[in-house]
Amino acid sequence: MSIEQLLAAITPQSRNEPDSGIVKAAMYGMTVPGVIPLWSGEGNTPTPEIFTRPAIDSLLAGETFYTWQRGIPELREALARYHERNFGRPFSHENFFVTSGGMQAIQIIVQMVAGDGDEILIPTPAWPNYGGALRIQGARPVEVPMDFRNGRWKLDLDRLFDAITPRTRAISLNSPSNPVGWTATLDELIAVRDACRKRGLWMFGDEVYSRFYYGDRGEKRAPSFLDICDDEEQLLLANTFSKNWAMTGWRIGWLQAPKALAPAIERIIQVNSSGTAAFMQRGCVAALDHGDKFLEQQIAKARANRDLVVAMLGEMPGIRFEIPRGAFYMFFAIEGMSDSAATTMRIIDEAKVGFAPGATFGPGGEGFLRMCYLRDPAKIEEALNRFHGWLKTHRPD
Ligand SMILES: Cc1ncc(COP(=O)(O)O)c(C=O)c1O
Repeated sequence: MSIEQLLAAITPQSRNEPDSGIVKAAMYGMTVPGVIPLWSGEGNTPTPEIFTRPAIDSLLAGETFYTWQRGIPELREALARYHERNFGRPFSHENFFVTSGGMQAIQIIVQMVAGDGDEILIPTPAWPNYGGALRIQGARPVEVPMDFRNGRWKLDLDRLFDAITPRTRAISLNSPSNPVGWTATLDELIAVRDACRKRGLWMFGDEVYSRFYYGDRGEKRAPSFLDICDDEEQLLLANTFSKNWAMTGWRIGWLQAPKALAPAIERIIQVNSSGTAAFMQRGCVAALDHGDKFLEQQIAKARANRDLVVAMLGEMPGIRFEIPRGAFYMFFAIEGMSDSAATTMRIIDEAKVGFAPGATFGPGGEGFLRMCYLRDPAKIEEALNRFHGWLKTHRPD
């Protein structure tokens, strides 16, 4: 069969889903020698041995069989303990479900609440995998652009609620957000909660960067739906071990959901991945129970690097940005740039620096580039010096 015939024989969703601009930049950039990679959302520190050791020991001890669909009891109990420490209230292990990365938690949420033609509201710029997870499912992402005005990103809640239609099933909120670092206030979360309660919609929260929050009062985390919601209401939260504990390559996360959904979630896990490897879960128990110090170091590093990036980009003419209040990305506009995808590729080739194109994050993202700053500060400095030199001699597309 020809390539065309083979492609014609798969579903339109799988054929037509656009490539992520982040992945495209990374795949190309990895072929160019000497590039400093700042395209992906991960740090440069490998997983610490105190988390990997229990995973290795588990493997060596023969823990290599099928396991609990919803995750081993020890990990779900450790998740409840971790949340109790961070929220100062009781949590039940019965509300936690272990998944293959935060990505699978998102996928399960979509599979559970949005059927063919159903809509989920997504404030943008947003991580492109949201739209992809919906489209592959036959559901429709309804993008609601945030405004970048007077150097600040703002989510217009009236515009968000006006986008609700009879097909809307959920409002998704990623706070702190990838890529802009926008972080919802408690009042904004309450407004979204009340709008969802009134209309019987799901709150679909993504708080994977909640600990990377740079509040003015030394807060340990960003405001959360968990501050204002009942554990048994229409709230679904995606989270992950990837970001807090330097475990991006492990592909393990969790979903927090009302207990009543447990059988439905387990059935979806059964037909998606049939569960997450038990040995990895042993490493995650160690991360939750013994990872606070490491996480604090990661947060301090991100904060210091954010200040470095703000200072360096602040010196460059024609660059505009809001100082991010959370996550570990800088989303910055370059004056005169109207094709961020082409500019990203040129900066890889000509300056040997790897950013991600703003356009891939949806409406509101064109004209911007994203860089991850949870990296070695010396590399960040080198990358931004190279970029500054490039800006002086080149015009963006
Ligand atoms: C906003 C957001 N949610 C979820 C994830 C999922 O992370 P993972 O699948 O690595 O657990 C990411 C990763 O970049 C993200 O940026």
